[in-house]
Amino acid sequence: MAAQEPTGLWLVGARGSVATTAVTGLLALRAGLTAPTGCVTEREPFTEIGLPSWENLVVGGHDVVHTPLDKRAEQLAEGGLIPHRVLTATAAGLRAVDAEIRDGYHPATHTGAQADAAARLAADIADFRAEHGLARVVVVNVASTEPPVPHVPEHDSLDDLRRALADPSRAVLPPSSLTAYAALTAGCSFVDFTPSPGVRLPALHELALAEGLPYAGSDGKTGETLLRTVLAPMFTARALRVRSWAGTNLLGGGDGANLADPDQARGKLESKARGLAALLGDSVTAPLHIDNVPDLGEQKTAWDHVSFEGFLGARMSLQLTWTGLDSALAAPLVLDLARLVSAAHAAGRSGPLAELAFFFKDPVGTDEHRFAQQTEMLTEWARGLGA
Ligand SMILES: NC(=O)c1ccc[n+]([C@@H]2O[C@H](COP(=O)([O-])OP(=O)(O)OC[C@H]3O[C@@H](n4cnc5c(N)ncnc54)[C@H](O)[C@@H]3O)[C@@H](O)[C@H]2O)c1
Repeated sequence: MAAQEPTGLWLVGARGSVATTAVTGLLALRAGLTAPTGCVTEREPFTEIGLPSWENLVVGGHDVVHTPLDKRAEQLAEGGLIPHRVLTATAAGLRAVDAEIRDGYHPATHTGAQADAAARLAADIADFRAEHGLARVVVVNVASTEPPVPHVPEHDSLDDLRRALADPSRAVLPPSSLTAYAALTAGCSFVDFTPSPGVRLPALHELALAEGLPYAGSDGKTGETLLRTVLAPMFTARALRVRSWAGTNLLGGGDGANLADPDQARGKLESKARGLAALLGDSVTAPLHIDNVPDLGEQKTAWDHVSFEGFLGARMSLQLTWTGLDSALAAPLVLDLARLVSAAHAAGRSGPLAELAFFFKDPVGTDEHRFAQQTEMLTEWARGLGA
């Protein structure tokens, strides 16, 4: 079914590290230049359920910067993320995808009602779908993380939201949510790979249900949080008492620079902390902070110190260090999500896809954070999709 139909992947933040790595990786996979290491959907049972093939994924997107994709890929190659032979072989393909990238919504430069901006974003996606004869398009947000938004009553009702969007004197939605609104009004499913507010407002949930569209999120789980959701259930299962779980993250790149702003970092820190609280309870002391270390470039180091207690109050600790090339971990998951959410859309699923919790730090539609259970949920769900 879905495998034979051309499917769109519309990246918001299309010239960022994650997006550039995903596009370069997709082109390299198509050309047989690389193995699908890190691509979950290349494992069973996902290979059996008719997901869109790499050849059938067509990419476009929005961004607010104009550095062409092949130049961004060069920068990532310098950072050790993309091999030079892949860069050379994919340069023409990157330029072709770059031609499909349109200007995103920037609140600082937009004038007029937000409804007009949303209509323009939706038209860009609809044109892309028509031009390439795509069966459906999955919009994936990989733009810079935004701070949490203050709640306003219009976020709770679609009718009220529409009225507020039409008012040129108001900017009721942050860019990520305006993007989600545009995607849903264009009849597209939506994935939030960032911790930004995105689709997680009741009015947008209402819109997704009204349009019969699925959505997934939030905040890709690629490093430290992935380890935490594997290890925390181990302490619980062995009845060991975790007393504190402290984390330090050192990162460079665009994400590091963005998260150097304490306001932007707040969303990320909240998203990371929610998982640990759900796994171990609120009583565990869990300080966590993020430092921008530009020298690290695309690398990210996470250091966790876990203090725990055993029989007769014996005090012990676990320390772990994870050094990852963040975009190399994230990019294959973006491709996986495009395939899975497109298949969910084709199968008539709508609303939050809780079964995709496996991919996210702060999953929509479920409080299940344990990685083993999430793997089970995903596998069962995928088998059902293929049935
Ligand atoms: N392992 C990972 O890399 C990982 C894991 C989880 C979440 N994320 C999230 O993914 C996002 C992307 O990470 P990155 O390293 O690629 O960051 P990046 O800074 O390299 O890229 C972000 C891109 O978004 C663009 N952008 C900003 N505002 C926009 C708007 N309003 N519309 C369209 N585009 C806009 C920027 O111009 C930039 O090109 C971040 O929010 C990050 O927190 C990444």
